[in-house]
Amino acid sequence: MNELSLHILDICQNSIKADASLVEITICEDTVTNLYTIVIKDNGTGMNKKTLSQVSDPFFTTRTTRKVGMGVSLFKMAAELSEGTFHIGSTEGVGTKIVTKFKLNHINRAPLGDIEDTISILCLNEKGIDILYKHRIGIHEYVFDTREVKEVLDGIPFTDYNVILWIKNNIKDGLISIQKEEAKWNL
Ligand SMILES: Nc1ncnc2c1ncn2[C@@H]1O[C@H](COP(=O)(O)OP(=O)(O)OP(=O)(O)O)[C@@H](O)[C@H]1O
Ligand SMILES: [Mg+2]
Repeated sequence: MNELSLHILDICQNSIKADASLVEITICEDTVTNLYTIVIKDNGTGMNKKTLSQVSDPFFTTRTTRKVGMGVSLFKMAAELSEGTFHIGSTEGVGTKIVTKFKLNHINRAPLGDIEDTISILCLNEKGIDILYKHRIGIHEYVFDTREVKEVLDGIPFTDYNVILWIKNNIKDGLISIQKEEAKWNL
């Protein structure tokens, strides 16, 4: 996986499987600290201490379909490849939070890739789970919240082609806009 958005998609699938009702994705690009931070938090079933201690081992999975579970361990490896850090915390009945920090300008830091595709795929989840996506570049922030979108849509489903198109464009434009604002700010 050479795009961070694909890791995010994979990690969020775990949250969906864990019956979360809200998945929060926060990305923070900070040139001052030279850090690219991704936080993924859910309010799903969480894990007990034993599961949590095994979760970043590629040979651990609670899947019954195959014997390896790669999602978490690959994300951890991606962070470590860019001299970054990985932390996972979880409490049964409360949820799970993963914090990965990448060295922003490291040659091995994978690009984000098509985050608008990742977020729109997540919006299409069958369980209607809400997604809160925040993206900060320096002091500028873009926020996408399915709870707000649902209110505006007033019953029109996310599966409507025009809705997904709108979501993708909103995210794309939002990210371009905070990039531009940040560039202006740093003049
Ligand atoms: N957010 C989460 N909430 C609850 N349990 C989780 C969460 N994330 C991971 N787990 C537990 O950790 C295990 C390992 O996760 P990981 O993503 O590495 O592999 P997997 O989901 O089993 O398989 P794969 O990601 O390769 O499809 C999961 O099987 C699940 O038991
Ligand atoms: Mg997984």
